[in-house]
Parts: sequence; C-alpha cells; structure tokens
Amino acid sequence: MPTEFAADKSHHGFRCEASARPETIRADALVVFVHEGSIGGAATGVDRATDGLLSRLATAGEITGKRYECVPILAPAGVAAGQIVVIGLGPQGPDGNTDLGTLYRAAATATRSLSTRPRETVVLVADPAWTSRHTEQAVAGAAMGMVGQDLHRTDKKRTRFGTTIWVGASSEALATGMVIADGVSLARRLVNSPPDDLYPETFAEAAAAVAGRTGMEIEIWDEHRLDRERCRAILAVGRGSSRAPRLVKLTYRGPGVPAGPPHVALVGKGVTFDSGGLSLKPPDGMLTMKCDMAGAAAMVAAAATIAALRLPVNLVAVCGLAENMTGPAAYKLGDVITARSGTTIEIHNTDAEGRVVLADVLDVVREMAPQKIIDAATLTGACMVALGHDVAGLFTNDQSWCDQIAAAARTVGEPVWQLPMYPEFDEQIRGEVADIKNVGEGRWGGAITAAKFLERFVGGIPWTHVDIAGPAFAEKPRPWIDGGGTGVLVRTLVELARTRSL
Ligand code: BES
Ligand code: MN
Ligand code: ZN
Repeated sequence: MPTEFAADKSHHGFRCEASARPETIRADALVVFVHEGSIGGAATGVDRATDGLLSRLATAGEITGKRYECVPILAPAGVAAGQIVVIGLGPQGPDGNTDLGTLYRAAATATRSLSTRPRETVVLVADPAWTSRHTEQAVAGAAMGMVGQDLHRTDKKRTRFGTTIWVGASSEALATGMVIADGVSLARRLVNSPPDDLYPETFAEAAAAVAGRTGMEIEIWDEHRLDRERCRAILAVGRGSSRAPRLVKLTYRGPGVPAGPPHVALVGKGVTFDSGGLSLKPPDGMLTMKCDMAGAAAMVAAAATIAALRLPVNLVAVCGLAENMTGPAAYKLGDVITARSGTTIEIHNTDAEGRVVLADVLDVVREMAPQKIIDAATLTGACMVALGHDVAGLFTNDQSWCDQIAAAARTVGEPVWQLPMYPEFDEQIRGEVADIKNVGEGRWGGAITAAKFLERFVGGIPWTHVDIAGPAFAEKPRPWIDGGGTGVLVRTLVELARTRSL
C-alpha cells in the first residue's frame, strides 16, 4: 500500500525534464492538454512533430478540446512515444487562464485512462503559459488519477506508471503538487477503508502515523479520557458499538510563527460507520456509510499537507471519532445528554448523530480560543437534496471568513455554495424538555437546522461549517476518479493556508 508523506518520494516515480522537444522522449504515452477551438500551447510542438496530425484531427472534429475529452492516437509517426493522448480543457477562461479545478480533473482523466494497463513511462507536457499553481494542480491530478479504489481487489484495475515525466514543470511545483497529491490520496484511502478495518481506534492510529511522518504533535483521547473531559455527547453516539470512541487532536506550528492560540482550528466529523443507530437506516442508505468519517479524513489530510509544506501558520485539527450502532447500550430516542459545554440535548433521531459528536468537539476547540474555526462533515442528506452530488454547502456565523473559504475553493475548483442561517431556524431546534433537540421540525431545511445546532457550540468564534455529504463520496466513477472517496476539501484547505488568509 502506498504511504503518503514518506520521506522517500522515489516510489512515486515522478520527475521533471527540461526538454524542449517532448516528442523525442521514449515513452508509452505522451499527454498534451488542449483548449476548445485550437491546437495551441504545448500541443503546437507535438502538432509540428507529427506533420500537423493534431490540427487535421481537430479540423475533422475528432479532437474538440471539450472538457475531459480524452483522444488517444496510437502509434503516431514523428514522436518517440507509443501514443499521444490529447486531453481537453474546455473553453479558455476570459483572461486566457486555465481554471485550476478543470486542469486537476483533466490531468487525472488522462492518467486514469492510461492506468488501466501497466505503463513503464508516461510523459506529460506542462503548458508554458501555466503558473506554478497550474503545474501543481496538474501534477496532483495526474498522481490522483492513477490511484483507484481497489484497495482489496486481487487483480488491480489501476497500476501506477513506472515513471511519470513532466516536461516544462519546475521541480518546486512538481514537489508541491506531489505533496498535495499525498494529502488527497490519504483522505481518499481513509474514506475507502472498510469500516471494520477503520474504526475510531484504528483511525486514531492512522492519524498518529501521519503525524509522525509530517512532524505534528498528536493527542488521542480514549473513552476514559473522554469521560474525564465530560464528552458525554461523543460517548453517547459511540455507546451502541463494540468499538469505543476517540478524539484526535493534531497540532502544527509553522516555522518561525510565534506561539499563541491557533490561527485556525480544523474540526472533522469522524463517524467511522453510520448505521443510523436505533433510528436505523434502510440498507440502501447504509451501504456507503463508511464515508461518514470523510470530514475527519479531510482535516487530518489537510493538516498533514500543510505541515509537510511547512506553511507559516499555527493550527489544530480535532476529530470526533465514533461508530453509530445499535448495540444493547445504544443511545435512545428521548435520551437527554449533557454535552461538554453544559448544553442539554434531547435525542429525537439517533441518525442525526454527526451534530451530537461535533457538539463536544467544537467545545473542546472553543476552549483553545482559535481565531477561526472550520468544520467539515458529511452531515445531512438534506444538503445533497439542495446542492446535489458535487457541491459542498457552506454555513457561517462570520461572512468574511466564509468568503475566504469560498474564494480558496473557487481558486482550486472545488464547488461550494452558501446556504442561509436565518435566526428563524433556531426555533426549530428548541428542545421540548432540554435546551435543544437534535433534529428540526420536519425535514425541510434540514441542512440548515443541522448547522444551527452546531452554531450553538462555537461560542461566537468566527466559524464556517462545510457540509460535504454530496462531494465526499462518488457513488459512480467519473472520467477523472474511481467511485469512492474523493478527498474533497483538502486542496481548498491547503490553498487557504497558502494564501495566508488563516
Ligand atoms: N451521515 C448522514 C448524512 C449523509 C447522508 C451523508 C447521505 C452522506 C450521504 C447523517 O448522519 C444523517 O444520517 N443525517 C440524517 C439527519 C436526519 C435524521 C435529521 C439525514 O440526512 O437523513
Ligand atoms: Mn446519521
Ligand atoms: Zn452520519
């Protein structure tokens, strides 16, 4: 199994080459990127080397440059590679720029389609017009595309290339892109791990291993510590399982950054399996619920990536880990739990467990007085009803913090959309016998009532909640990714930390 953030990167087999003539490199395949409308940029040289083959195919309508179109040209004359793969980027942006999210997915589409067979050497050509940000995202996408979901399949459907040569990429951009790829891969691998392998204790062990490799401090609270810390909400959700809950706290201090309260706290929902508890899910809805720790996976992976890049920021990442099951001690409908903050929670539906777990995690984080909080959670089906499979929901108590996150997401091409937090929704979660209840009245606006519940635990600190129920897990394969965990939000969080808006 690949190990992300290993000191020895040689197993990735990525290197760069300055060659001005990629067509002369012996390889299994030569990948070039084209925009809609014309064979331009780095493809021009390959077009010339093949005596205008690419232009002729474009004129004939065989190459359109449409987004993620992938045209293999086998055994072309004039190039040393066994095939040329022309990958579409869609229309050129208004300012002539290529959008980073499209580039990431296009690079992944190319390597994903090539990785169905073993390949010794594949050459990808960076366009001279790209900035280092472009190259990084293309490199990250290319690395991600050749890694699949088949962790346990005997005959792997995907094989990594022996060597991946990037022509025209700087070694810095290549290295950064590979670290980002490691982060995305880590999040995907954690999400794709079967729930009986990855449960709170083993998730915490995985986080500890990553902390060791990236130079972060880690603290793990077991069930006894959780009890001493009055984390009754996390413990309640975990009580129906034979696997005890955990809380994981990672700390990273950037080089030369003065000590002090964290600039940002990353908070993740880590329900390693969500059966729904006594409010049991139907089998169809339960099948993919190993993905219910994707928020925690994103936060651990983002913290690790930021640490591996030595970015100048102080942060903590705190994840609440529990398995929501139906064992004899399971928490029940009508139970009243006193959360760590002292707020009492009335349980009306044990399947609304994520917010209950996060109630305690947010309180732990609030105590550390971070400047800002961002949480990621596969929190509600309602968010998918509102925004579909690909778009994450944003909810905030501080518009400028939310805007910064949306801007970073836009930069790297991860779709997000903000939903409102009108005070009227607070009435829906008013408790009958306790302070609050864990579901709203009826199902309408369910993503918002969930966010409103979380807001009660952040103590007025600028906070944004990201509901990733849709984009965390691809139920079907897409051209750029196998079905399964997507690693959503890792690239956005790294971008946030880099632009120093934390
Ligand atoms: N983990 C689920 C939300 C979810 C659904 C994530 C589908 C990914 C895909 C969450 O714990 C849940 O069950 N939410 C309930 C809340 C309801 C009971 C108020 C839901 O959305 O149905
Ligand atoms: Mn649930
Ligand atoms: Zn859940």
